[in-house]
Amino acid sequence: MKVAIIGSGTMGSGIAQVAATAGCSVKLYDTNQAALDKSKTALAKVMSRLVEKGKIDESEKSRIENSISYVGSLKELSDADLTIEAIVENAEIKQKVFAELETYQSQDAIIASNTSSLSIASLAASLKKPERFIGIHFFNPAPLMPLVEIIPAIQTSEEVKNKVVQIIKDWEKIGVLAKDTPGFIVNRVARPFYGEALRIYEEGIADLPAGETGFATIDWAMKELGGFRMGPFELMDFIGNDVNYTVTETVFTAFYFDPRYKPAFTQKRFAEAGYLGRKSGRGYYNYAENATNPEPNKDKKLGQEIFERILVMLINEAADALFLNIASAKDIDLAMTKGVNYPKGLLAWANEKSIDWCVEKIDALYDVYHEDRYRCSPLLRRMKQKGSRF
Ligand code: NAI
Repeated sequence: MKVAIIGSGTMGSGIAQVAATAGCSVKLYDTNQAALDKSKTALAKVMSRLVEKGKIDESEKSRIENSISYVGSLKELSDADLTIEAIVENAEIKQKVFAELETYQSQDAIIASNTSSLSIASLAASLKKPERFIGIHFFNPAPLMPLVEIIPAIQTSEEVKNKVVQIIKDWEKIGVLAKDTPGFIVNRVARPFYGEALRIYEEGIADLPAGETGFATIDWAMKELGGFRMGPFELMDFIGNDVNYTVTETVFTAFYFDPRYKPAFTQKRFAEAGYLGRKSGRGYYNYAENATNPEPNKDKKLGQEIFERILVMLINEAADALFLNIASAKDIDLAMTKGVNYPKGLLAWANEKSIDWCVEKIDALYDVYHEDRYRCSPLLRRMKQKGSRF
């Protein structure tokens, strides 16, 4: 199959590697020659590392490298069966590229976007034949993260959807189908992991001795008691506070200011201050050499309270995504375990804790705050009444 990738940045380069590894012939296009050169050098390095580790041999390395050609003009993508765009997250710029691309390609070529936050319907609308358009959302780093969200727009044909589901399977990725709504599955359901952690910090619940910041305690609770690989603050520092804040703000705005997704001033100030996380050397933690960071307060009772509050907000979000038919229960759980490495699917976790526990826990939060943010999903409430499980 002939695959074209538009944009040779972080995501485009990773997706090109995935397609080439799966045996496709790939053309990688970028307007910036330096980005193309960088992508080629980076791929060579990754391939050499895979050879050193014994994951591939020299001939496979050359095959993969030779499957990718680096091109500087959109016209050269005319023979692609599937094009995946991964350029700057700007609807107008993307739409312009799609409208031009369509004039070079055959009628049945599939065109897709890797957008994290834009509506697929709005991008599809830039084409004369919008039924050929679909969202294919990879996770960073694309060669390592197994999950791919497949997002048909209301215009997308059934045939294109089915073809893309098969292609993602052939590429040995785990595809999940998501409705074209803000954040799709992962970036919607994961919001409380950050948002509720920030709220707990802002409220000072982490009840700490002087000098401690609370971040370490919340992170400790989520890792030690929840089994998450990284705590929320470590993860925000890893993603970048600027990037993570923008995703939250975009989701919040796209949901017509639903208080469940309200961004936190704390994160905004950290981003404004340039405390972006690892990439700037300082975020919630200090990454300078020899820097010391506060120790967590390992009080089990406090930790359990923090962990359960964040967990139940995540479960509520996952349940509501199912209630609103954003995806199937199976795909919602797969998305969180394969896209962001959660230790368990959230709906399976709800079963384990019991639906009664979830509803009581959320209602208890609502009783304290009387904020719409803590409203229980109607699905959980209905399941409690029926005594059913996910
Ligand atoms: P990036 O900034 O690393 O790369 C973007 C590339 O596109 C650059 O090389 C740039 O020169 C090129 N470009 C910009 N305008 C262009 C145009 N008109 N024609 C051709 N090339 C153009 O960006 P990144 O992080 O790879 O993101 C790309 C897309 O993937 C965005 O839509 C983003 O929302 C999405 N995404 C990003 C993830 C991430 O973790 N970085 C995860 C999943 C999706």
